[in-house]
Amino acid sequence: MFEHLKEQPKDKILALMQAYKDDPRDTKIDLGVGVYKNPQGVTPIMRAVKEAERRWWDEETTKAYTGLAGDPAFTDAMINLVLGNSVARDQFSAVATPGGTGAVRQAFELVRMANPEARVFVSDPTWPNHLSILKYLGMETIMYRYFDNASGGVNFGGMMEDLGQVRKGDVVLLHGCCHNPTGANLNMVEFKAVIDLMNEKGAIPMIDIAYQGFGDGLDEDAAATRAVAAGCPETLIAASCSKNFGIYRERTGLLMAVAQDKSMQAIAQGNLAYLNRQNYSFPPDHGARLVGIVLNDDDLRADWKAELEEVRKGMLSLRTQLADELQKLSGSDRFGFLAQHRGMFSRLGASPDQVEKLRADHGIYMVGDSRLNIAGLNKDTVPVLAKAVVEVGI
Ligand code: LMR
Repeated sequence: MFEHLKEQPKDKILALMQAYKDDPRDTKIDLGVGVYKNPQGVTPIMRAVKEAERRWWDEETTKAYTGLAGDPAFTDAMINLVLGNSVARDQFSAVATPGGTGAVRQAFELVRMANPEARVFVSDPTWPNHLSILKYLGMETIMYRYFDNASGGVNFGGMMEDLGQVRKGDVVLLHGCCHNPTGANLNMVEFKAVIDLMNEKGAIPMIDIAYQGFGDGLDEDAAATRAVAAGCPETLIAASCSKNFGIYRERTGLLMAVAQDKSMQAIAQGNLAYLNRQNYSFPPDHGARLVGIVLNDDDLRADWKAELEEVRKGMLSLRTQLADELQKLSGSDRFGFLAQHRGMFSRLGASPDQVEKLRADHGIYMVGDSRLNIAGLNKDTVPVLAKAVVEVGI
């Protein structure tokens, strides 16, 4: 049987992680996979998460199964974190999933179950795993223009023109904040125009929100998701706790389905639970439990928010430092977009050859499309990167 299997292409982001590990140079800089690192190059366990873990060690009395939807203390707290008061609680259903990727996968499967003809519109570019999961599921995928290489911003005109082709029942995948891989985001006026267009066409928005709190703040980063959920008859939302709680390996995420028609809530909830059962039965509990404990305790929540703010501000100051340094060394303002972008990533605008030169000659690792992880830098490595960028002629 196994002889019928084909070799699978390597995931580019994960292959880069391995190549970095294998590089013996001690001056190497990892700007690849989207993992936060503090100035010492460590991905820390957040204080509140550690404390929640201590408490849970004492309080946990059983390892018996949870429900198919996961722990309600987690789902309710996350719904509140992502959606605030934008929609009434009886309008949406939610299940815990293994990470944001699990939520994305379940959302696509739900779309396919509901409407096998649905086409999924994704931004060009988008997180490569969106494309790979859609392909694996055999779902028709159409890219809409998104990033403008020349300005480093969003090509909003091109995006709206391309979204003009959506048909009733198609799904439009949007990044709630901190666009991965470009770092370029729609403003709220643009988001509202997208909402109007989707409503006019009868398309269903799906939001992937994996970096809430990494851009402009927790509420600010959720504003677009809330506007879409409140403004469209149906919305799917895949949220991740990997980054903002720093619990990458715990695999903690949430899939929400919002319906304006309340009678749809129970049917959506049943289908989400059914999908969990088919794919892995019960979602992982440990990370979800920690998030529930943190969000439901005033002190832990306040401490988590404070630490997340430090992380966010640290990334913003690295962005400004990098843009300034590049301005100084290149004598041009063409890298100013780095300070405008939000989240962990920015697309630098380098060719694959230049990206390869950065790796080979300077030990600087970024994804082949020149996506760099700002959080992989610190104030000492920013000038090293800036010098290398100018040297390879970007
Ligand atoms: C990334 O984009 O680097 C992260 O979301 C990690 C991953 O799984 O690709």
